Amino acid sequence: MAKTHTIDYNHFINTHSSRRRPALTRELTKLQYGAGKESISLAEGMPNEVTFPFQAINFVLKDGLSITLQGQQLNSAFQYIPTQGYPPLLKKLRDFTYQMHMPPNWHNTDIIMTNGSQDGISKTLEMLIEDGDDVLVQNPLYAGTEVILKPFKVNLIGIEQDEFGILPSKLIDALENCKAYTEEGGGRKMPKCIYLNPTGSNPTGATMSLERRKEVYDICCKYNILILEDDAYYFLHFLEERPVSFLSLDVEGRVIRFDSMSKVLSSGLRLAWLTAPKPLVRNVELHMQSSLLHSSTLSQVILDNLLTKWGYQGLISHGAYVSAYYKARRDFTVACMEKHLKGLCEWTIPSGGMFVWIKVHGVADVYDMLMTRGLKKNITLVPGHAFMVDPTEACNCIRASYSKATLKQIDKAMQLLGELIREEHVLLRRKLDGLENSILR
Ligand SMILES: Cc1ncc(COP(=O)(O)O)c(C=O)c1O
Repeated sequence: MAKTHTIDYNHFINTHSSRRRPALTRELTKLQYGAGKESISLAEGMPNEVTFPFQAINFVLKDGLSITLQGQQLNSAFQYIPTQGYPPLLKKLRDFTYQMHMPPNWHNTDIIMTNGSQDGISKTLEMLIEDGDDVLVQNPLYAGTEVILKPFKVNLIGIEQDEFGILPSKLIDALENCKAYTEEGGGRKMPKCIYLNPTGSNPTGATMSLERRKEVYDICCKYNILILEDDAYYFLHFLEERPVSFLSLDVEGRVIRFDSMSKVLSSGLRLAWLTAPKPLVRNVELHMQSSLLHSSTLSQVILDNLLTKWGYQGLISHGAYVSAYYKARRDFTVACMEKHLKGLCEWTIPSGGMFVWIKVHGVADVYDMLMTRGLKKNITLVPGHAFMVDPTEACNCIRASYSKATLKQIDKAMQLLGELIREEHVLLRRKLDGLENSILR
């Protein structure tokens, strides 16, 4: 590995975010949480919990365990908390993150609870990006990231991928092109960050190999690029061994990692956390102090109790169960595709996540086929355009999800997709014949 660099985080924080200042009341809430019982606070605008109508909440788990929130714990669950998160949970998740990733730069790393990882990704990009910046992304990419970047009028530099993730040579080419930038024109401005979704990627289902991760990490060190590691499908990989995260490789402190419980425990609880170098976590915290104050306390208290009951191993085992569940669905879906789409399409078997990325043969652009005749046939699939750096370009790819439809519906959907593509081939043939005839006439 190349020698490590000292990172100036001010270089990455944009003008707008560098103006953020702490909210004194929020800072006092944090202090009060850490203070002893003898400390009296008249500082905070906390409502008195006796006025809340709730007496107790009882959660019964499918494994037979139960969690009852009452008394002081219930009060805490319904109260304001420090912006960074519910302190007992923060402590557990710091331990958990350390044990899972052993980040080499841990002394300079911290976490913050976010309202789903989407919230963390958007606050991070809003901290880093200036209008008109160039931003590196995998192409195709998670559509939720593209919509964050849109208002900044950024120049998305899409890096091509294969089944093992983005291609390092393409990343180097893009960065070398940026090096040629001059104020007078020509070349592109050096980007500050790259957005990656390395495990069971949405939409392709690809998982970056360790070799690729190392190569990409080294390139980002060389060109001083921050890595946004969106690992929403971290637990949903179908490989023998859990992938090694970018955070685990991060000797320099240039990774911002997004963990989410949405695909593992509940998407509605909006439980997620961001792990990053402390100055960046602090800036996100200041943003939150002015936006949602903190992520839902009740959700955090639920997770805290769950981790107390289950231990970290319980969460890991549950993650393994979830992954096995989706793996079986993936296998079924791929078998249906073999049955109904062979010769019409090609695909790479997903190594994680909830999606399969289907390339259609003989149809240069699938948009109209899916959005008109497909919907009429009662089959809804996402045209690949939704995930492309340039959604206006023709795209022959489709994203299909195997997470929720019944197995019978998945089989039927693949059969209908096969029919749809065959019909499209006939229509295109007719169009072409009509065109040829009119030329000959
Ligand atoms: C790649 C990726 N990142 C982030 C998210 C957002 O997840 P969350 O529910 O944690 O906000 C999703 C949701 O589908 C996703 O697919």
